[in-house]
Amino acid sequence: MTTLEALHLRKDYRVRGAGWRAAHLKAVDDVSIIVRPGETVALVGESGSGKSTIAKMLVRLVDATSGTVTLDGEAIGQGRRATKRYRSRVQMVFQDPFSSLNPALTIRHQLTRPLRIHGIVHEAVEEERELLRLMESVNLSPAKTILAKYPHELSGGQRQRVAIARALAPRPEVLIADEPVSMLDVSIRLEILQLLNDLKLERNLAVLYITHDLATARHFSSQIVVMRAGRVVERGPSDAVILNPIHPYTQFLVRAAPDPKSDPWIVDPGRYLGHPEVIVSPVNLELTQDNVSLHWARSWDDDAAVRAMLEGLGSGQSG
Ligand SMILES: Nc1ncnc2c1ncn2[C@@H]1O[C@H](COP(=O)(O)OP(=O)(O)OP(=O)(O)O)[C@@H](O)[C@H]1O
Ligand SMILES: [Mg+2]
Repeated sequence: MTTLEALHLRKDYRVRGAGWRAAHLKAVDDVSIIVRPGETVALVGESGSGKSTIAKMLVRLVDATSGTVTLDGEAIGQGRRATKRYRSRVQMVFQDPFSSLNPALTIRHQLTRPLRIHGIVHEAVEEERELLRLMESVNLSPAKTILAKYPHELSGGQRQRVAIARALAPRPEVLIADEPVSMLDVSIRLEILQLLNDLKLERNLAVLYITHDLATARHFSSQIVVMRAGRVVERGPSDAVILNPIHPYTQFLVRAAPDPKSDPWIVDPGRYLGHPEVIVSPVNLELTQDNVSLHWARSWDDDAAVRAMLEGLGSGQSG
């Protein structure tokens, strides 16, 4: 029963600038996200918009430049012990099931490790029971046969199920899934997403689902957060964001999604710029637990960027 609350996360990367001076890239620029138990929040946005950087900060694979992450309001301590404890509570499923599993180790070995490291099991009988339970929870059978295999002996879908089982091993409360099905065959994507959804409901997990796919974002999530260039440009209840996107970039994404039944969006600058919820930058949205669900918190590009975008969309509209 854990709420993940990330407030005002920033990540600057030093990159080589023009000439000799180092430049800073604002990979994530003041992003706040709250995920509650039993809820999936989808994080969408173009390539390079900072989604994976957020995921990595949330599981402590990279340090945030600034911002806070709390679990049920509790600040997370620094140091190895605190990080280990935190990682047992917040787990990640990566995009690529081929590189996220160690090719030299059997499935049994890969699942046993987190069980031991996080002190879930203390003796052999218990360990065996827990392994079988994990395999069953991700619908991998026959469990004993698959436990004895190496990753290369499994299909992509089976591997991703193993990766999910491994993430579940420490009994996490929060699951971060960074494009968990984009490397998989189209035919099995939905069943993996359905599995994640079932696990969320069974275990009351808080799930952050990172994806490029608006259709599954809408289907599996109660809230959609749209990012562009390191910032949140729009967020709200999933249906509302998809059916009535307000930011031009969200409209662009929705229109680009292949849904033959949908009408093309007519971008109406008046509606956008005159919208009562529009907050023109500088953005300083204090997100509390309440106002995320009660209203659509939005942050925006500056006026000039928005106008340029509207003009760009307007001219593409004729076809
Ligand atoms: N270690 C790093 N050093 C420097 N820049 C980085 C580093 N990691 C990421 N970046 C940059 O940060 C920005 C955000 O990258 P990120 O991987 O978070 O995007 P993303 O939204 O996950 O994209 P995609 O949809 O392609 O996965 C990009 O411009 C990327 O090049
Ligand atoms: Mg990414």
